[in-house]
Amino acid sequence: MELRQLHSFFVAEVSGLDLGQKVDAATVRAIWDAIDRYAVLVFHDQRLTDAQLHDFAALFGPLEIGRAAARPGRRRLAIPQIGDISNLDEDNRIRARDDRRRLDSLGNRLWHTDASYMPVPVVLGMLHAVAVPPSSALGNGETEFADMRAAYDALPEMMKTEIDGLIVEHDVFWSRGQIGFTEFPPGEREQYPPSPQRLVRLHPGSKRKTLYLSAHASHVVGWPVADGRLLLWDLTAHATQRTFVYSHRWQVGDLVIWDNRCTMHRGRPHDESQPRDLRRATTLDTGSTLEQAA
Ligand code: OGA
Ligand code: MN
Repeated sequence: MELRQLHSFFVAEVSGLDLGQKVDAATVRAIWDAIDRYAVLVFHDQRLTDAQLHDFAALFGPLEIGRAAARPGRRRLAIPQIGDISNLDEDNRIRARDDRRRLDSLGNRLWHTDASYMPVPVVLGMLHAVAVPPSSALGNGETEFADMRAAYDALPEMMKTEIDGLIVEHDVFWSRGQIGFTEFPPGEREQYPPSPQRLVRLHPGSKRKTLYLSAHASHVVGWPVADGRLLLWDLTAHATQRTFVYSHRWQVGDLVIWDNRCTMHRGRPHDESQPRDLRRATTLDTGSTLEQAA
């Protein structure tokens, strides 16, 4: 296994591995070490089935069943732990512009970390590219990643002290509300109540401090909503400056792994008349961020 750093702060390209074959414990350990150091790993030419992606991801922890897969009704993909990150419906047709699932998933275009609205959030995200749209005037459907440890390090010392113990409420209805999406299926508001999370976390694998920000982050607990929201906007603007960002241009067969605890990501626009089909597996954490030392 070989690593090549792709950005001055984080992100490495990994070569020399075939993830569709059996991956041994030493290789899993080596991949974890690379995740702890680089936060985002890029593999090319993998071409995994959903079952192979599931089995590979499960080597890194128990897998999440996401909000969309938890809904009743027919689904395009058979394995509930494989998230459908595509613009396709159950019959593989491009979703209409006003399709509710499409509008809900447009929330992914805002800078976020996955599932931070859950009381116990997630750790690794793994996206595998099955179909990639052609380049277009709107963009190429890149996924961008921002380095939250480097962003934390670059804060003024006084700001680090100011925000150290803050708790932030994360709410999926707030992130969707920002893009005007409010039509949730019945029962979903009750099923996904807001969760409190530490704003500054200690990243266990690197022992570095990191900002835990997300489009789901609504306000600071114990502060007037307006003050907290303004602070979160300022911190997000700081953390997503181009110097902290890597943009991934997808090729079919790519697998990108990221650590949700110390990065944010967002999808970029693309030609929506063409299929964009990514499959995602996500590993769960073991405890709330409130139980973790900062
Ligand atoms: C995700 C996500 C962005 C994209 O799958 O968690 O935010 O580029 N995806 O599709
Ligand atoms: Mn996401």
